[in-house]
Amino acid sequence: GRPLKIAVLGAGVVGTEVIRALVTDSHDLGARIGAAVELVGVGVRDVAADRDAIVPTSLLTSNAADLVAGADIVVELMGGIEPARTLILHAFETGASVVTANKALIAAHGPELYEAAERAGRDLYFEAAVAGAIPVVRALRESLSGDHVRRVLGIVNGTTNYILDQMTTDGLDMAQALSQAQELGYAEADPTADVEGMDAAAKAAIIAALAFHTRMPLAAVAREGITTVTKEDVDAARDAGYVIKLLAIVEDTEAGVQARVHPSLVPVGHPLAGVHGAFNAVFVEADDAGELMFYGRGAGGAPTASAVLGDIVSAARHRAHGGLAPAESAYAAIPIAAAAEA
Ligand code: HSE
Repeated sequence: GRPLKIAVLGAGVVGTEVIRALVTDSHDLGARIGAAVELVGVGVRDVAADRDAIVPTSLLTSNAADLVAGADIVVELMGGIEPARTLILHAFETGASVVTANKALIAAHGPELYEAAERAGRDLYFEAAVAGAIPVVRALRESLSGDHVRRVLGIVNGTTNYILDQMTTDGLDMAQALSQAQELGYAEADPTADVEGMDAAAKAAIIAALAFHTRMPLAAVAREGITTVTKEDVDAARDAGYVIKLLAIVEDTEAGVQARVHPSLVPVGHPLAGVHGAFNAVFVEADDAGELMFYGRGAGGAPTASAVLGDIVSAARHRAHGGLAPAESAYAAIPIAAAAEA
């Protein structure tokens, strides 16, 4: 058949990495999918803006609506609520599957988007919306969907973990550490979303919905950021055997599912205490599985692109074969080396 047409909306830090892979690696991706894929366009606000040379100028368009209408898979990496929301609804109406990294949008409008997907008989993939490269959305949505999750504790914002870690180990103050996190490409466009806990709260709402098979409105997530945490707090915690982490906590309580984000004292012996720098980790407690921890890079262009590309492969497999498994032909592509000598 014809190649599956992929439209990317947004060419920022993550978009550029996704485009890089689609341009340089589409042959391998196609082999893994068992169907060819083709990047047909990149929707941007300003076609003339300066950007990475990997982004093919001939594919740039400011007409996102037309681009969406002609695509099989729409990859939304613009961020923000509008026009992302309208374009995704439009994508479902015109029969596309959608991949997004937009946590704010999923947290605020998830139900509307899931319903639109269901009406269209299409899927909405959003692995990159929570904890970047860490496959925690799939884990909660699929792997653990037969278990009973009791509680999830997450370090889900790389910027604040980086800041708190730098304050703990390097003695930096918050402003210095934040500007480093911005330089490293971890921070949101408006870093108040990081330091005030909005970004983590959006992820907490998504985790709660997935872990507890419910709808968790963003407004129901209690939130406190890290702006009031001082160097003295960090030092006092350490002297008492704790580290301060911004945790997203979702749990099944007698009063119902609760979600909150706040600076928390984590005992130095807990696995979450060893999560340094901009790394993320999600610690899950479930009845049958027991304790699990998912750990890795939760921010930055390439790690987030990894999750987006995995979703593109899933969406394309589903479009091409009607299922999530790779096509049989995908296994034939890679030669096997002779057994190494013992
Ligand atoms: N600003 C976010 C973070 C990016 O620091 O974790 C990933 O969502």
